[in-house]
Amino acid sequence: MDFQIKSIEQYHNVYKHSVEQPEEFWADIASQFLWKKKWNKVLNWNFKEPYIKWFDGATLNITENCLDRHLAERGDQPAIIWEPNDPNEHHRILTYKQLHHQVSMFANVLKHNGVKRGDRICIYMPMVPELAIAVLACARLGAIHSVVFGGFSAQSIADRIKDAKCSHVITADGAYRGNKDIPLKSVIDDALMQCDSVKKVIVLTRNRMPVSMIKGRDVWWEDEMKKMETLHEYDCPAEEMNAEDELFILYTSGSTGKPKGVVHTCAGYMVYAGYTFSNVFQYKPREIYFCTADIGWITGHSYIVYGPLSQGATTLMFEGVPTYPDAGRLWEIVEKFKVNILYTAPTAIRSLMQSGVEFVNGKNLDSLRVLGSVGEPINEEAWHWFNENIGKKRCPIVDTWWQTETGGIMISPIANVTPLKPAHATFPLPGIQPILVDENGVEIKGNGVNGNLCIKFPWPGMIRTTYGDHERCRTNYFATYENLYFTGDGCLRDEDGNYRITGRVDDVINVSGHRIGTAEVENAINAHTGVIESAVVGYPHDIKGQGIYAFVICEEDTHEEDLRRKDIGMTVARIIGAIAKPDKIQFVKGLPKTRSGKIMRRILRKIAEGEVENLGDISTLLDPTIVEDIKNGRI
Ligand code: WTA
Repeated sequence: MDFQIKSIEQYHNVYKHSVEQPEEFWADIASQFLWKKKWNKVLNWNFKEPYIKWFDGATLNITENCLDRHLAERGDQPAIIWEPNDPNEHHRILTYKQLHHQVSMFANVLKHNGVKRGDRICIYMPMVPELAIAVLACARLGAIHSVVFGGFSAQSIADRIKDAKCSHVITADGAYRGNKDIPLKSVIDDALMQCDSVKKVIVLTRNRMPVSMIKGRDVWWEDEMKKMETLHEYDCPAEEMNAEDELFILYTSGSTGKPKGVVHTCAGYMVYAGYTFSNVFQYKPREIYFCTADIGWITGHSYIVYGPLSQGATTLMFEGVPTYPDAGRLWEIVEKFKVNILYTAPTAIRSLMQSGVEFVNGKNLDSLRVLGSVGEPINEEAWHWFNENIGKKRCPIVDTWWQTETGGIMISPIANVTPLKPAHATFPLPGIQPILVDENGVEIKGNGVNGNLCIKFPWPGMIRTTYGDHERCRTNYFATYENLYFTGDGCLRDEDGNYRITGRVDDVINVSGHRIGTAEVENAINAHTGVIESAVVGYPHDIKGQGIYAFVICEEDTHEEDLRRKDIGMTVARIIGAIAKPDKIQFVKGLPKTRSGKIMRRILRKIAEGEVENLGDISTLLDPTIVEDIKNGRI
């Protein structure tokens, strides 16, 4: 690609230009995408409202960029390689032509089932190619997809469907994950008892577990596709979308109780995902690129589907988990498909590291050229293990820092360009202007400092609003510090200007790279019978990065403690999903509160971390003796 940066000198020059002339810089990059109509103005913005418009006046369809424009040159090249959960099941390959065909047909299925431009479509599916097809088919029609990760509960799905007033759901009978069968349709059925807005449910066959199919509402994916064949409905013209039309909603946790629907729009998101994919990984034509994320998270949206496909890459999708049937699975996949670029998460690296290097030995990993990490801070031990045992010290590791809200990678090495520093995300990508501020929003200048990470200038992939509630977007991200986007992360800048993200400074915990709001978990725990109050904090966990520690006050009851813990876990799994189940639950008589009734989380965090000696000043507590009790009951 013409916009790939090839040397560190070039990076510095491009970066300087991107800050001095941002509109010129982004216009240049955008001109390498396919537009139906060019923009009038590259950027209009203020962070006050916020009001962010990129490429205003332009029209396009992202699927023409991801599919149609590649047909002539690489129609027969694999677009998606799919590896199933079970290594004995056959893998599948979809070329760009085949993917284009499937997306067009399925877009017609959606149309025949009443989907119109602007409708919101909830997608709850396993990691199969049809998930990517469903996502792209929505985009083809200008319908807004809201993908919900397969690990969320019926209640979480219902909340998301209601918030976005989704008209359709696309799901599957069930999913295979490791040695488990997950009943997706049945979870959807539970969710839909609360959702009047949903008119149709399209169900893909995957594991063919028994499912209920309601007449008039539920239809099978395969039957609908056959109908399109009979009707010869093969083509589907791509809807002409405005640059700032909504492309998708993705719900994510914040410090308040309710997840928010982060909204991304068509043009800016596309340009940013494509540009960052191409640059960070230095993707070369025909390379095999493998991102182990799930499409249910932003990493999957940007770096399994839209980023790679917009650049004509071959993207490998894996249905299963890294430890099934054993901890050598990822390395087997790398060997089988001669993967060149592997993008994964620190939590996976730590878990495979713990399983032992014998699962790596004997696997041919010579094809690997670039490694990537995302989702949480990578500790040095994991970084070195990855570097030595997987990259064999010859593959750069790009430690990519970004967020659901940023749409794409923000701070990261560029492979083979940026000098690496273990566990550091190094430098901002062109167009990204990070600053560190103190509590009062005063900029902390110079190097060898740390502070709260903010971004002071817009970039094309940034969040536009939170669905249905623009004020929430403003207060969450743009109100903490005037004229800055606040990331919620703490950050160090070393003597050489390398950035190192240290973790969240708000009440969000990062469990295995998944963001979970403590307030959300508390609400779920408090819904359990007999619970009076609870407080949830994160604590360091060897594999997950952070674990969930809950302090819970209960009414006296007759149930045995351990069973009560399990019951509370079940309630959390029902309300949010199994991913939010506390790792530890400590029953307490009281919580450390100030005289004004505020819980002092700092103290709880320290106790959860095991730092019981150094609790700092506790004299402002209403009842300091509570702290002794909690310390003694620590688990
Ligand atoms: C954390 C995932 C350190 C961070 C793409 C951020 C990281 C949150 C890194 C976003 C990294 C992500 N180093 N921390 N390389 N990447 N994070 O929205 O706390 O699921 O705010 O997006 O993950 O999580 P999200």
